Amino acid sequence: MSLQPVSGDAAGFKAALGSFAAGVNVITLRDDEGRPLGMTATAFSSVSADPLLVLVCMNRSTRSYEQVAATGRFGVNILAAAAREVSDHCSRPGSDKYLAPEWLAEHSEWHAPALAGALAYLDCETERDVTAGTHAVLIARVRAIGLDTAAPLEKEPLLHFRGGYRQLQRTAPQPRPLATSVKEYA
Ligand SMILES: Cc1cc2nc3c(=O)[nH]c(=O)nc-3n(C[C@H](O)[C@H](O)[C@H](O)COP(=O)(O)O)c2cc1C
Repeated sequence: MSLQPVSGDAAGFKAALGSFAAGVNVITLRDDEGRPLGMTATAFSSVSADPLLVLVCMNRSTRSYEQVAATGRFGVNILAAAAREVSDHCSRPGSDKYLAPEWLAEHSEWHAPALAGALAYLDCETERDVTAGTHAVLIARVRAIGLDTAAPLEKEPLLHFRGGYRQLQRTAPQPRPLATSVKEYA
């Protein structure tokens, strides 16, 4: 068996959590002058479909969180593999996170900026902002949805795993599930 105990501190925690392969998102928002900016985040989850709720976890020390906390509005952009450059741009702490006009795919109905390199976009409004350690857990209502419907299975998602980007690899068709009773073998 290769699973071994590691230190039960932040380093061990980060190493273990990095093993959870996650889709990469960019949380988008507008600054006080209405300019679009983004922050890369993998801590995102679906919560409820009735009402439509999602959650994201944002470090409370980020400038992006400050802005989201002040306005209660943000977008979640679920990135395609080709949008890696945008993810890099939006993940450097302290750097300029402004989004170039050629990256945007705006629509008059949407409040938060949307990215052309997204497979899906959720325009969100914060319902609850829960402080949890260094982070804020934002539970948000989905106000509008954008979806890249052009070729649903052709574009791969951008994934992150153990400190690096990954892409999906297509697997062979699933083998027939094992029979659960003797009768099914007949
Ligand atoms: C792959 C990846 C995933 C990340 N996920 C999160 C996340 O879920 N929540 C978070 O607060 N920061 C996350 N970060 C770090 C932020 O992107 C980074 O701290 C942020 O861009 C700093 O923003 P600021 O300039 O607004 O302070 C992630 C970074 C990377 C590279």
